[in-house]
Amino acid sequence: MNKTHKQQPFQAPKGVPDYIPPQSAAFLAVRDNFTHQAHLAGYQHIELPIFEETGLFARGVGESTDVVSKEMYTFADRGERSVTLRPEGTAGVMRAVIEHHLDQGQLPVKLNYAGPFFRYERPQAGRYRQLQQVGVEAIGIDDPALDAEIIALADRCYRSLGLKGFRLEINSLGDDNCRPAYRAKLQEFLQKLPLDEETQKRAIINPLRVLDDKRLEVQEMLVDAPLMLDYLDAPCKEHFETVTGLLDDLGVQYVINPRMVRGLDYYTKTCFEFIHDGLGAQSGIGGGGRYDGLMGVLGGKDLSGVGFGLGVDRTLLALAAEGIGLEELGVHRRVDVYGIPLGEAARKEMVKVIDKLRAQGIAADMVYGSRGLKGAMKGADRARARYALVLGDEELAAGTIALRDLDAHQQENIALADICTAMQQRFNS
Ligand code: HAM
Repeated sequence: MNKTHKQQPFQAPKGVPDYIPPQSAAFLAVRDNFTHQAHLAGYQHIELPIFEETGLFARGVGESTDVVSKEMYTFADRGERSVTLRPEGTAGVMRAVIEHHLDQGQLPVKLNYAGPFFRYERPQAGRYRQLQQVGVEAIGIDDPALDAEIIALADRCYRSLGLKGFRLEINSLGDDNCRPAYRAKLQEFLQKLPLDEETQKRAIINPLRVLDDKRLEVQEMLVDAPLMLDYLDAPCKEHFETVTGLLDDLGVQYVINPRMVRGLDYYTKTCFEFIHDGLGAQSGIGGGGRYDGLMGVLGGKDLSGVGFGLGVDRTLLALAAEGIGLEELGVHRRVDVYGIPLGEAARKEMVKVIDKLRAQGIAADMVYGSRGLKGAMKGADRARARYALVLGDEELAAGTIALRDLDAHQQENIALADICTAMQQRFNS
């Protein structure tokens, strides 16, 4: 390598966010809180490959979707197999359920996952090429109580972070029995409209997606469009009414949006989206629905499923929009205790104290290198530590250590031999 020329530094790929400290603490708080809420509702973790055989997504998500036709990161591996970085999680979960016969155990199979997904979208605020989701899937029982559970769980995920400025939109997309007739009606309606060429094409391939067109002029033409909700057959209608009734019972507020269509093809019956008003165009912070035909399409039994994917990146933007920061999330402290040894003998003692505190489960760090008290206190401040432990020659000689409460601005001396017990008491009380 030529070391005489200074090399250009690298940048992250376009549209791929880094989460660096201290904001990375908020990222973990959101992701882990979502996961925790899922576990409270009985979902078990599933860890899946980041890439899968391309056909899984083509067949599972649908060839006519933007996600599959335009946005996949697909490449041939060195063995000339076509593989794709997962654009979403549901197809992979279904593949694993079928492959590992999870559907032969107790039903429903309740699984959750968290991690990165990849879509080659045009990057903009809140729209990334590597996006992070936490998802849940409940597979094997066609019970509207599961739809309600999942929607209420998503609602709780956001509320438990303190978010308020969002709304839940819900719709039913019918199923294989009632959707084909509706689809034909909608197509007939759309054919009569003066739509541009691309939209006309979409009206043929995937007419429901036209309803979701955000352009005002298109929306104006669609005012009298037939709506799926008016064409549901009796079982789908009953399913939808049961779901909304249960949401009422649970006190989960929602708006019925009869024009909502999701960007993935596998949905049947219930679908929903959580929309945050502070995010501009990319306002969907999470969404999901029921996908009763998916397992059969992927070569498994004909079992139903329902789930959601919550966007971690957009939830972070929503938190920022509502002014909910690290402090409000309770993750502003890098450590709880910060050790400040003054001199070599003190440093040797401090290394032991800090190590013991960590072994007790207390987050602790100390100043390294030779810094005076003032510089070291800055380090404690920057770490947002609750306590500083100061140990100088004077304290060493007396067998004590100074414990500073940095929130209460108080200081006391404690016997060096007792400091770990004293700290334990403070954090347990
Ligand atoms: P989705 O609506 O495509 O659903 O994605 C879920 C969430 O991921 C979105 O609401 C959004 O918050 C986030 N998201 C999607 N694309 C991006 C992007 N480019 N940049 C940032 N965030 C993004 C699914 O993926 C389904 N698998 C959800 C599901 C699970 N349905 C049933 N089970």
